[in-house]
Amino acid sequence: MRASVGRSVYVAGCSEELFTMLECDVARSIRTDDGRVRRPSHAWTPTVHALLAHLRAAGVSGVPAPLAITNEYEEVSRLSGDAGAACWPYQATEQGLRSAAHMLRRLHDATISWVPPSDAVWGVPPTEPPEVVCHGDPGPWNMTWIDGQAAGLFDWDFCHPGPRLEDVAYALGHLAPFRDDDTAMRWHGLPARPTAGADSKFPARSTASPSLVWSTRSSTFRGW
Ligand SMILES: Nc1ncnc2c1ncn2[C@@H]1O[C@H](COP(=O)(O)OP(=O)(O)OP(=O)(O)O)[C@@H](O)[C@H]1O
Ligand SMILES: [Mg+2]
Repeated sequence: MRASVGRSVYVAGCSEELFTMLECDVARSIRTDDGRVRRPSHAWTPTVHALLAHLRAAGVSGVPAPLAITNEYEEVSRLSGDAGAACWPYQATEQGLRSAAHMLRRLHDATISWVPPSDAVWGVPPTEPPEVVCHGDPGPWNMTWIDGQAAGLFDWDFCHPGPRLEDVAYALGHLAPFRDDDTAMRWHGLPARPTAGADSKFPARSTASPSLVWSTRSSTFRGW
């Protein structure tokens, strides 16, 4: 699995139930054809689709349009752009990182006007303060990229009301190469060693705060 290094970090603080679900995810079938993506549905899928419908109606094009839900699967529109491991190096460029940050900001802002249904079900429990609806898994594996810039965010299974910072810290934990150079190059697919310093090609490494990232992520995990 291409995100095995990331996932082993990701699942470290998960509840057993969520861990089991993620394990099942490895084997679950996801089909993409005819501009549609078919993925397994869950108890929270109607809530996710309501959010996606709101975002699309608000003019946000970087999220999938909800198309259908059955007992077994959901269908959403396929976002344009590239996705997958080949795109990971984009995250480490100045424009790649900035575009991902701007996209997250726009998405968060657009969730503020959404009123969740009274019977909303969340894949991840809400966290305090409920400033926005967090995506819950805003890593590069859930992004589409156009011309090296983040253009879309899919897989909203773990969305939940929470503070913006939670998603920002989570994203930075993957978008910025905080780990040692060898791991960063292997995992992020960087073309060169992410040397820290003023002339670094990877400014996130030298300007973001690892302690903020990890402390925020830890508090998120406690909520699971
Ligand atoms: N709405 C979408 N638009 C474009 N591509 C998509 C979309 N949804 C899924 N994909 C494609 O399907 C792949 C699997 O995506 P998805 O996030 O749904 O599965 P997953 O089991 O959560 O995988 P991962 O662990 O990589 O997040 C993605 O890498 C991407 O190529
Ligand atoms: Mg995913």
